[in-house]
Amino acid sequence: MSYSMFKIPNTIVSGQGSMEYLSEIQGKKAMIVTGGSSMRKFGFIEKAEKYLNESGIEVKVIDYVEPNPTVDIIIRGSKDMLEFEPDWIIAIGGGSSLDAAKGMWAFYEYPELEFQNIIKPNSIPTLRNKARFVAIPSTSGTASEITGCFVATDTKTHAKYPIVSSEIIPDIAIVDSDLPAKMPKNATAYTGMDVLSHALEAYVSNVANMLTDPLAIEAVKLVFKWLPKAYENGQDMEAREAMHNASNIAGWAFGNVSLGIVHSLAHSIGGQFGITHGLANAILLPSVIEYNRKGTNKYALIERSLGIENLSDYIREVNKTLGIPDSFNKLTDTEISEDKFNAVLKEMSQNAFDDVCTATNPRATSTEDLEELYKIAFYGLRK
Ligand SMILES: [Fe+2]
Repeated sequence: MSYSMFKIPNTIVSGQGSMEYLSEIQGKKAMIVTGGSSMRKFGFIEKAEKYLNESGIEVKVIDYVEPNPTVDIIIRGSKDMLEFEPDWIIAIGGGSSLDAAKGMWAFYEYPELEFQNIIKPNSIPTLRNKARFVAIPSTSGTASEITGCFVATDTKTHAKYPIVSSEIIPDIAIVDSDLPAKMPKNATAYTGMDVLSHALEAYVSNVANMLTDPLAIEAVKLVFKWLPKAYENGQDMEAREAMHNASNIAGWAFGNVSLGIVHSLAHSIGGQFGITHGLANAILLPSVIEYNRKGTNKYALIERSLGIENLSDYIREVNKTLGIPDSFNKLTDTEISEDKFNAVLKEMSQNAFDDVCTATNPRATSTEDLEELYKIAFYGLRK
């Protein structure tokens, strides 16, 4: 029998100021997990503490999560939780904070688990014996507040492991646009293009279905309409809210039907050269669409639905508006020399081929094809 599943958090609270919902939850102790500086600086941690205290909940804060959370940080957090014994875990911040908190949750519930035991998809045992989970994202991008996955870096090998399990889908997602409104211009552009990549890759995923397609299309429409506005004026709260919801909706889609080789290629080149995830996606997206057209007619459907002639060219124009270059060799923050690129090209292509997202790409691919796509994106070639 073949069937598809659709799983998202039980409760999604959205709207500007919706963090106030924390004062409604019932419990004894809450452990806030965050990356520290910016969330505290803008007063969001204090606000969360205040709301939780209002409902009589005792609060402690873990604020040592760093970007690309390691297994060590996750284990350290789980030990702090074992000591405090929270019945709520409240993750506040970017994708890294939410991801790390999900990992801490698993090891808090099962301290005897080894990281190796949860690498296989869906191998995390039943959670919610000790705590439930609230996710409050500060970027409009990763949709970690929706999805049953997190990425952890092995402390010794530096390898990144995507951990996948519907057990770690948060119980409550609070999508409060006050938080991402603090994102600087570049982060707005990169995370926004990550949302577009999520929506488009979910739409053409080879397991996409009638439940996820309307969500993916809606997220694409929202990004095209509102991302340039949010980028132009970070104070435009209508644009911020639309982008925060777009990220969320794209998460409903890709959280259930996964992604494609834009993400495989971005993961691999990002790991190698430290290129920001959404920026790598934005550069790769137009040429991957051109490549994937042989495997799906859905780009034509979305072009018709949006009334645009050529999706790749349209995205190239959006990138230009957002100050995103059209090739990796034009990056200024992360300079990649041609020699270095060529030296790791084969390894990167192999890693991209092995990436979990490759399995749901609409066109069957090969390491040779992925190598070619890297070259196109590195030199800005047009097919
Ligand atoms: Fe992404």
